Amino acid sequence: MAFNYITAEEAAEFIHHNDNVGFSGFTAAGTPKVVTVALAKRAEAEHAAGRPFKIGVYTGASTNDYIDGALARANAIKCRTPYQSNKDCRNSANSGETSYFDMHLSHLAQNLRYGFLGKVNVAVIEATEISDDGEILLGPGVGVAPTVCQLADKIIIELNRHDSKELRGMHDIYQPLDPPYRREIPIYKPSDRIGSPVVKIDPRKVVGIVETDIHDGVKEFAPADEVTMKIGHNVCEFLVSQLKAGLIPASFLPLQSGVGNIANAVLGCLGSSPDIPAFQMYTEVVQDAVIELMKGGKCTFASSCSLTVSDAKLEEVFNNIKFFHDKILLRPGEITNNPEVVRRLGLITINTALEADIFGNVNSTHVVGTKMMNGIGGSGDFTRNAYLSIFTCPSVAKGGKISAIVPMVSHVDHSEHSVSVLVTEYGVADLRAKSPRQRAQAIIENCAHPMYRQLLWDYLKLGKGHTPHNLHAAFGFHNEFNKSGDMALTNWADYE
Ligand code: COA
Repeated sequence: MAFNYITAEEAAEFIHHNDNVGFSGFTAAGTPKVVTVALAKRAEAEHAAGRPFKIGVYTGASTNDYIDGALARANAIKCRTPYQSNKDCRNSANSGETSYFDMHLSHLAQNLRYGFLGKVNVAVIEATEISDDGEILLGPGVGVAPTVCQLADKIIIELNRHDSKELRGMHDIYQPLDPPYRREIPIYKPSDRIGSPVVKIDPRKVVGIVETDIHDGVKEFAPADEVTMKIGHNVCEFLVSQLKAGLIPASFLPLQSGVGNIANAVLGCLGSSPDIPAFQMYTEVVQDAVIELMKGGKCTFASSCSLTVSDAKLEEVFNNIKFFHDKILLRPGEITNNPEVVRRLGLITINTALEADIFGNVNSTHVVGTKMMNGIGGSGDFTRNAYLSIFTCPSVAKGGKISAIVPMVSHVDHSEHSVSVLVTEYGVADLRAKSPRQRAQAIIENCAHPMYRQLLWDYLKLGKGHTPHNLHAAFGFHNEFNKSGDMALTNWADYE
């Protein structure tokens, strides 16, 4: 079939007010880059003419500024899920302009298929290649691309000439059947290939192809600082101790690691430790550190939803594609994050907390209980089903005025039942087989910043019961921060 080659502006005309639009990609990787910019301009023109124009935005995870930034600044996002990390999109969610609903990443594709989120009208897909009979070779990020292609009435393709065709063979596209017909997902080790290297679509749905030549523009990470290095070392030493104690099999288990500076530092430390054997990853994001670990032979395989690596690293992968080709599989988010597979493979999961409480509950999403940061992402998919779930965070934020260890988290994303280990730059709290009081002791002693320890011990004295909370004082740290801007000034006498 001969496709229509059109401009981004022409493509944007296919998207209407109130449409729900699904996008390919995961993080900035493989995410469309021009149609939404044209759409944002169109929304601004419609608003100027006094007409409403907003769309629902469904993606694999966070995107790039071309989608979340441009559309949020144009007040063009009606609803948004499952995850965002863009300043303008976050502000739009926090002001109520956008109805953002936070969702486990593995849930999105199936919830779309179940019809829980309404119709998907249009899919905008970044492709490296498309054949006349509708076989799409995706770029370095997959996300929910197969599902939105299946569900949408119209498909717009952004054909990005920048991505290398060498990616062919690195994708593993698979969608499970929906209940009551679902079977097990037949992945028994991270490298098991179960699907197709391409997304197959009905070519008649393609309303146009927009050609681009733009790189993903993934930012390089800040070099590890003293705090992130200490966290990395603490995680590493803990895992070594577990190996020596026989609590992790000697051959090690696949790792999942969140994205960001801490994750990068943790991976770097694991890579340089002679006591950690070579390992595989079953994760949602391959970031720069993983590429280095592969080059050093420490990471032998990674199953991921995206290659979220800096432009320089992506060039390196493309230039050495023979080396990397059989070491990476790129899969849809509902497979990379699938709880069934996570539980079966026995992952060691390492994610970052915004705050944790002294009983082991973790808040990954809400700043001081009310403001959305990014969303739960895949952290819940992995944590709840892990062999060993680890959370890391610096002990304090904002120059010490915020303690990441608080009496009670101001929002719960991961409950005490799912969190096995908490790690800060001060040490490790192993929460397994501990009562709430014992967990509090381990967390205050090992993880809290010294300037907050006495305050936390004193809080514990105010409580009673199995989980010794004092509901009157439980948010004392947060109240004090809202009042004076410094949690360290909390005075429990105010609550007596
Ligand atoms: N209260 C208020 N603000 C806090 C805070 C707290 N307890 N802890 C950290 N912050 C602030 C930091 O000061 C920083 O602010 P800034 O951007 O103004 O400098 C910001 O939150 C980010 O903190 P940082 O320490 O840089 O952590 P990060 O970039 O690693 O992000 C999360 C941490 C929790 C926001 C991030 O990991 C996330 O979105 N997690 C949820 C999704 C997830 O885990 N996915 C993993 C599967 S891949």
